[in-house]
Amino acid sequence: MTHSAHSTAAELGGKVDIKPRRMSFPFETVKNRFFYKGNSVISVFGAALSSTFPPGESEFIASVRLYRDKVKDEKLLEQIRGFIGQEGHHSHQHKRANEALRELGLDAVRLEKHLEKDIKKYISRKHATPKFRLAMTVGMEHITAIMAEFVLNNPDVLEPMEDSVKELLYWHAVEEIEHKAVAFDVFMSIENDQKYLRRVFRLVTALFSIRIFFYMLALLWWSRTMPSWKEVKGFYRFLWGKRGVITNIRQPYRDYFKEGFHPWDHDNQQLVDKWKQEFYRPEHDLGAQKNARQQDASQDDIQGALA
Ligand SMILES: [Fe+2]
Ligand SMILES: [Fe+2]
Repeated sequence: MTHSAHSTAAELGGKVDIKPRRMSFPFETVKNRFFYKGNSVISVFGAALSSTFPPGESEFIASVRLYRDKVKDEKLLEQIRGFIGQEGHHSHQHKRANEALRELGLDAVRLEKHLEKDIKKYISRKHATPKFRLAMTVGMEHITAIMAEFVLNNPDVLEPMEDSVKELLYWHAVEEIEHKAVAFDVFMSIENDQKYLRRVFRLVTALFSIRIFFYMLALLWWSRTMPSWKEVKGFYRFLWGKRGVITNIRQPYRDYFKEGFHPWDHDNQQLVDKWKQEFYRPEHDLGAQKNARQQDASQDDIQGALA
């Protein structure tokens, strides 16, 4: 890739506003333990993913914070603030989702605690330098961004689920797209070592996939569930079928290995705009409600003053 293509993508990222939205979803509406079409394997896959978000996102924030003092660019500093706010809110909502899952008999909270401990152990080790930790974050952010792109491009994948879960995932996906280049830009502006990013990315992928696999087994084991052959096949299709997740993220996944890759080479800002128009529901946005109440109050003031 040419240098100018790289800077164009980076410039595009520089224009994105990263706005944390404080959402809250009514997960108590979910009544089925196997909330994805009754398929136990796909459901525990979703629960396993959800369990990794709160501890994972805390580590993403921590690893970016280690570099914040070195960043001089005002725009990037502003984006870091947006990134931290967004990941903080995601973490909070997934914690609530994990509690709801535990109520349904899938103990995502136990897995969350397990990962939390593992991360604590890992960051105390010598090899976990700030550079390594941030590179791990950059890699995970690429994985979340391409999964987010898939979900927003194929909203029917989430269709079989309750509204509250769908909305959680759309919102999370949109914000993952908005802030997808922040950790990358921080890493490149200070360390400028894309070869290192690529090396760590292979490790990130392996560690993440293995963990999700074992977390799925744990959830099945703890809930005494023996999936049927049909469910296993359904899960296989969900990942590797023609319209499957892995089938569709394979190419964008590989783009990470291209010389001079930048997250905004995947120009998908339009997916964020589409969400704002089609899926965003202000009744679950606590921040928007507060603003509306303030506006109402000030309208009353104005009217009071006029009367
Ligand atoms: Fe997130
Ligand atoms: Fe993220």
